[in-house]
Amino acid sequence: MMINVGVVGASGYTGLELVKMLITHPNFHLKYLATTTGDTVIEALHPSLVDVITYPVEKASVESVVKSCELVFLALPHKASMGFAKDLIAQGVKVVDLSADYRLELETYEDIYCEHEDKENLDRAVYALIEYYREDLKKTTLSAGPGCYPTATLLGILPFAPYIEESSPLFVDAKSGLSGAGKKLSENTHFVTINENMFAYSPLRHRHGAEIAEKIEKLQGVKLNVNFVPHLIPVTRGELISVYATLKDDTINPIEILKKRYESDPFIRIRENPVDLKSVAGTHFCDIYADIKGNALFVNVAIDNLLRGASSQALVAGNLMCGLPEEAGIPTIAYMP
Ligand SMILES: NC(=O)c1ccc[n+]([C@@H]2O[C@H](COP(=O)([O-])OP(=O)(O)OC[C@H]3O[C@@H](n4cnc5c(N)ncnc54)[C@H](OP(=O)(O)O)[C@@H]3O)[C@@H](O)[C@H]2O)c1
Repeated sequence: MMINVGVVGASGYTGLELVKMLITHPNFHLKYLATTTGDTVIEALHPSLVDVITYPVEKASVESVVKSCELVFLALPHKASMGFAKDLIAQGVKVVDLSADYRLELETYEDIYCEHEDKENLDRAVYALIEYYREDLKKTTLSAGPGCYPTATLLGILPFAPYIEESSPLFVDAKSGLSGAGKKLSENTHFVTINENMFAYSPLRHRHGAEIAEKIEKLQGVKLNVNFVPHLIPVTRGELISVYATLKDDTINPIEILKKRYESDPFIRIRENPVDLKSVAGTHFCDIYADIKGNALFVNVAIDNLLRGASSQALVAGNLMCGLPEEAGIPTIAYMP
């Protein structure tokens, strides 16, 4: 059985990752690619695909998606996504959105992004953090990809939420490669700014802090004092998260807690030592390590921001929404060395 799928936003970083995985996917047939302006071919947008595939890229239109696809990935900025998703859902196309548009409660979204233009579907969207929403994803027609930082942070911290002292500050010290910012150049992502350099940005104020806090409360029923500090580091891809929290007591065995929570999750690897970026770059794996000293908890997580933090997580959501095996077409071999 082959299912026709499309990618809107095919010229971007996450769009390219989707295209690369869809070319060899055993059950998805890549039927439609689009950008803002279209009128090109995919190998002109991404020269790494020359002599691999040739495929037309159209100007994005709801009618064309409806005509050619059963499911579509929206690899678009927030606000642009909800413009498309609303009409696509109404016309029976399954949507996997990678933007922030369907990730949050209405109040949180409007507080940190903008006015929401598709409130009806917002309530129906399933948050595509696979290990926590697998069964819901099998039943939905709209999934919302979590942010890259929230993906790594939540996978690491959720198993420990019941043991953490709620009143003490919990710090999420996050470091990301530059591809996390998308393809558009900015002062922060200029080579001269970031080369041999690193720095925090939006400390304690970044939008992903609110997403992390909202989902911990929703999934574990506790309101933790989340303080999120992202840093840019001079690498292309990969995200390393270090969480520092205070436990209610000093009796837990952190590795046992992680192993128990994720024993049936094939893409979570519990490590016996601190994690690193290169072991996950190019894969859907999320590597987690944790330790305690007295009542101080340290949780350490590594993911590839473009894959587990975006496109491969979106592909798993698409697999589940179409009744396919979770692992269909998912990359597992790291770029190491
Ligand atoms: N990068 C990451 O690590 C990461 C991780 C998790 C989630 N995300 C989210 O995933 C989404 C895509 O991120 P990205 O890093 O791939 O961004 P990107 O590299 O900037 O690419 C964005 C794409 O969206 C297209 N686009 C923008 N407005 C459009 C419109 N109105 N109609 C059609 N196409 C439009 C652009 O096409 P043109 O070339 O024609 O302008 C481009 O192909 C964002 O919402 C981002 O927050 C990214």
